[in-house]
Amino acid sequence: MDGWVEQRGKARRIPLQMVNAANEAAVRRKLGAREQRWLKAQQFTPEPGRIALIPDAQGQLQHVLVGADPHEQLWSLAGLPGTLPAGDYLLDELDEDRLRLAALGWALGVYRFDRYRAPAPRPAARLVLTRAQIQAWRPTVEAIALVRDLINTPTSDLGPAELAAAVVALGKREQARVRQWVGPQLLKANFPTIHAVGRAGGQAPRLVELTWGRRGDPAVTLVGKGVCFDSGGLNLKTGDGMRWMKKDMGGAAHAIALASLVMQARLPVRLTLLVPAVENAVAGDAYRPGDVIRTRAGVSVEVDNTDAEGRLVLCDALAYASESKPDLIIDLATLTGAARVALGPDLPALFSNSDALAAQALAAADAERDPLWRMPLWAPYRRMLESHIADTANCSPSRHAGAILAALYLQRFVSPAVNWLHLDVYGWSDGNRPGRPRGGDAQGLRALFAMLRQRYG
Ligand code: BES
Ligand code: MN
Ligand code: ZN
Repeated sequence: MDGWVEQRGKARRIPLQMVNAANEAAVRRKLGAREQRWLKAQQFTPEPGRIALIPDAQGQLQHVLVGADPHEQLWSLAGLPGTLPAGDYLLDELDEDRLRLAALGWALGVYRFDRYRAPAPRPAARLVLTRAQIQAWRPTVEAIALVRDLINTPTSDLGPAELAAAVVALGKREQARVRQWVGPQLLKANFPTIHAVGRAGGQAPRLVELTWGRRGDPAVTLVGKGVCFDSGGLNLKTGDGMRWMKKDMGGAAHAIALASLVMQARLPVRLTLLVPAVENAVAGDAYRPGDVIRTRAGVSVEVDNTDAEGRLVLCDALAYASESKPDLIIDLATLTGAARVALGPDLPALFSNSDALAAQALAAADAERDPLWRMPLWAPYRRMLESHIADTANCSPSRHAGAILAALYLQRFVSPAVNWLHLDVYGWSDGNRPGRPRGGDAQGLRALFAMLRQRYG
C-alpha cells in the first residue's frame, strides 16, 4: 500500500507543485490573474506543510501548491495522502532523484500499523508515477513497512520463534537456504552467549541463518540484534525503561529488510543473514551478573550487567560470521541508550574498522537523505571493559562512552581482516511527524542498500 497509481491514458490528473521561497515568485507569475488573487486571498505562503487548493472557473480542483523545504525533499509530500481530496496527482518535478524521494515520502505517509484495529480506508489521493518508477521504488517502501511492522508487533505475537518465521518466509520467497539452531542446539554448535542470554525466555533462544547467492560472488554478511523483549534480565529495567522494549529486535528487522532488498535486486553477492533471536527475561535459570561465559571466539566474558545483552548475543554471531572471512560484515542493533544520548533519536551511530568503507556509507547516507553519523572505535577506552577474572566484561560500571564501549566490545569478535560496519540504531519514531508515525521505523536502511548497490551492483 503505497498510494501510488500508474500513469494511464488520458485519466484526469491534478498538477501538484512544490513551492519554496526560491521559486515562489516564478510559480505565482505563471498563474492567471484569478488564481493569483485566490492565493493572495488565502494568504498563501510557501511554508512547509501549507497547501493551496486552486479551483478552475467551474469550481473544480485544478491545481495544488504545497509549501516544501527543498532540503527536506523526502518528507515534503508525506502529509498529503491523508489531506488532499480524492484524485490522481501528478507532481511537477523533473529531476528523477528528487521525484523518487518525494514519492517515497508520499508512500511512507500512507503507512499505518493496523494489525490490531480496523484498517483505515485507503487514501483516495494517489500520486501518479510511471510503471517503471513504481516497479523500481516499491521494494524500498515494502522493506520499510516490513521493518515498521516487525518492530510494532508486540512480543506476545513476535517472540524468537515468530521472528525466525519472518526469516523463513523471506527465504521461501527468494528460494534461499535457511537453517536454525534452537535451544540446546546452540550449545552443541557453540553459540554459548546466545543461549545464556535467551535461556530464561518463554520461547527457546535461537540463531537463524539465511544464505543466498552464487559461489564466487563477494560474500556479505548481515547480522541483526533480535532481542524480542529486553526486560533487562536480573538487572531489571525500570517500568519506563522497559515500556518500549518490544522494539529491541529492531536491528534484526533492519537486517531482514536489507537482505530482502539485496535479494529482490539480485545483487551479485553471496549473502548471509544472521539473526540471534532471544528474549532477555527473568526466571530461575536466567544468567546473572558476575557469571562468566566462554564465548564462541574463546574469549571469556564476565557479565557485569545482564542488561548489556545485545552485545552478548551479537558477539557469537559476529565470531561465526568472521569465520568464513566475508568481504563485508554489517551489524545493526538497538544497542545502547548512550547512542541516543549522544546523537538523539534520528541519527544512527555508525562505527567501522575501515575509513574507506565508512566514507562509502556516509556518502550513501547523504545521497539518500537517510542520515548516519560516524563515531570512533576509540581503542584507549578498551581499558574500561576490563574484568578482574575474565578476558573482558560485557560493559563498564561507569556510563561513560556507552555506545563506543559497546562497539569496542563487538570489535573484538570481528576479524580485523574483514570490513565491518556497526550501526547503533533507535528504530523508533517518538513523535508523530508526517510519514513517520509514532512507532517502529527504519533508519539507515536505504543508505546501506544504496551503499551495497554501489559497492557490488
Ligand atoms: N536495548 C537496550 C538499549 C536501548 C535502550 C536502546 C533504550 C534504545 C532505547 C540495551 O540492551 C541496553 O539495555 N543497554 C544498556 C547498556 C548498559 C547496561 C551498559 C543501556 O544502554 O543502558
Ligand atoms: Mn538491555
Ligand atoms: Zn537490549
